[in-house]
Amino acid sequence: NIEAIIFDLDGVITDTAEYHYLAWKKLGEEIGIPFDREFNETLKGISRMESLERILEHGGRQNDFTSAEKEALAAKKNDHYVQLIQSITEKDVLPGVESFLKQIKEAGIKIAMASASKNAFFVTEKLGLIQYFDHIVDAATVIRSKPDPEVFLKAAKAVAATPDRCIGVEDAAAGVSAINDAEMFAVGIGDRSVLGHAKMVLHSTKELNLETILYAYTK
Ligand code: G6P
Ligand code: MG
Repeated sequence: NIEAIIFDLDGVITDTAEYHYLAWKKLGEEIGIPFDREFNETLKGISRMESLERILEHGGRQNDFTSAEKEALAAKKNDHYVQLIQSITEKDVLPGVESFLKQIKEAGIKIAMASASKNAFFVTEKLGLIQYFDHIVDAATVIRSKPDPEVFLKAAKAVAATPDRCIGVEDAAAGVSAINDAEMFAVGIGDRSVLGHAKMVLHSTKELNLETILYAYTK
């Protein structure tokens, strides 16, 4: 039986994936590295510093900045991002998410969060969902970024769940790979062309339903 369901945050519970994109895009323009949504897909689920590295490489400028300058650029992106998330409210929870959380709670299954974001607590609190979570992994304690399974394994451990009895929910290709490598059951939210390696792909959070997912898991 399933012991825990472990959620990614950005792009799964709320549409902050869009805010990360806007904040990086703004920073990119400030340093003359424009990029599009397709490139942005490769940043989803990736930590702040690693995202910056990828953007600099994308612009062929990976050797143009000292590590102190990179820290400053990452901080600047975070300033843009933090500004965007100030106005988040309960209305920004994606459709179907809260009723899914309620179904899980009622079934006696643990709920955890495995986000790479250091802003995860703040955002979850703003969304009014903090009470549903038995554990939220502190991103600052995670050494290896997704697609490494570390953050999902940490989440499972914190709620005393066995990995192969966990379901992970993700919107990012790197996140689905992390769930697979943790030997958990991956549910992808989004496009099959990006998330085809997930065990189950749902087009939107509206389709999140415990019964359907448990059925797919046991099949
Ligand atoms: C999530 C998002 C990424 C973001 C990362 C770090 O994984 O999908 O886009 O870069 O968190 O977020 P942070 O808020 O710590 O910069
Ligand atoms: Mg995500």
